[in-house]
Amino acid sequence: MRSYTKDMTDRYVVIGNPVGHSKSPWIHAEFARATGQDMDYGCLEPPLDGFAEAVDAFRASGGRGANVTLPFKQAAFRYCAELSARARAAEAVNTLVLDRSAAFGDNTDGVGLVRDLRTNLGCVLEGRRVLLLGAGGAAQGVVQPLLESGVALLVVVNRTAARARALAARFKGVRGGGYDLLEDGAFDLVVNATAAGLVGALPPIPPRVFARDALAYDMVYGCETPFLAFAREHRVRVSDGTGMLVEQAAESFLIWRGVRPRTDAVRDALRGG
Ligand code: ATR
Repeated sequence: MRSYTKDMTDRYVVIGNPVGHSKSPWIHAEFARATGQDMDYGCLEPPLDGFAEAVDAFRASGGRGANVTLPFKQAAFRYCAELSARARAAEAVNTLVLDRSAAFGDNTDGVGLVRDLRTNLGCVLEGRRVLLLGAGGAAQGVVQPLLESGVALLVVVNRTAARARALAARFKGVRGGGYDLLEDGAFDLVVNATAAGLVGALPPIPPRVFARDALAYDMVYGCETPFLAFAREHRVRVSDGTGMLVEQAAESFLIWRGVRPRTDAVRDALRGG
């Protein structure tokens, strides 16, 4: 095994299980090329109970940072001796900085969503009514950044109502519960953070949740989920999560390398544009 020296190319990985489908190695290679950074970015797939051991080994071999994806974001939160405020709010970590004396964890998912909404999709969030579907890891990461963006109302609904209530209770002014909460009220932005689309299912929402000129946003990327199809059927503007994926990656890249890469070409390429 080679020992780490300062002259070696800086190494990063995405850690997940499974991880083979991840677009992160390609995205970061594009960012590195565009910004002239000397770095290498690969994949790490530890066994489900082997996250800490895998990160320890990567760190000991000179690894400088990592992205963390399913199902390890909570394990990464527990692993880190130091955490950013946004990782603490999310209780989940998607970005590890490993070249410090203590492992540092951050969460760039929420800022990635907000940046995609604002900068790429031209969405005004201030004063808007927002509905978040789901209360799992994906939803957890975006509550605080949405609140900080100045929304007027944030409602979280979930199939398991207790999970949404527990998530909402951690934040001031957020309402949470089951889908029966949606009996009235329309929203300017509906974000699907459930895994329903991955199994071809539609969360049980009535079309009246969409206000006039609403945006329906699915965090799943690269496919037309039943949620997006349902919104389109009701003539609601839609977006998948490609932009969020690229923006959260850019924010991680900034944390590691001190330079923010442009995201438009990478986003267009992922969309096949
Ligand atoms: P992730 O980290 O991707 O959020 P997760 O923590 O397993 O994964 O959460 C998945 C989310 O999708 C949950 O909110 C889940 O609802 P439950 O908490 O009731 O399980 C939601 N979900 C999954 N399949 C769904 C479906 N068919 N309809 C509605 N919600 C669904």
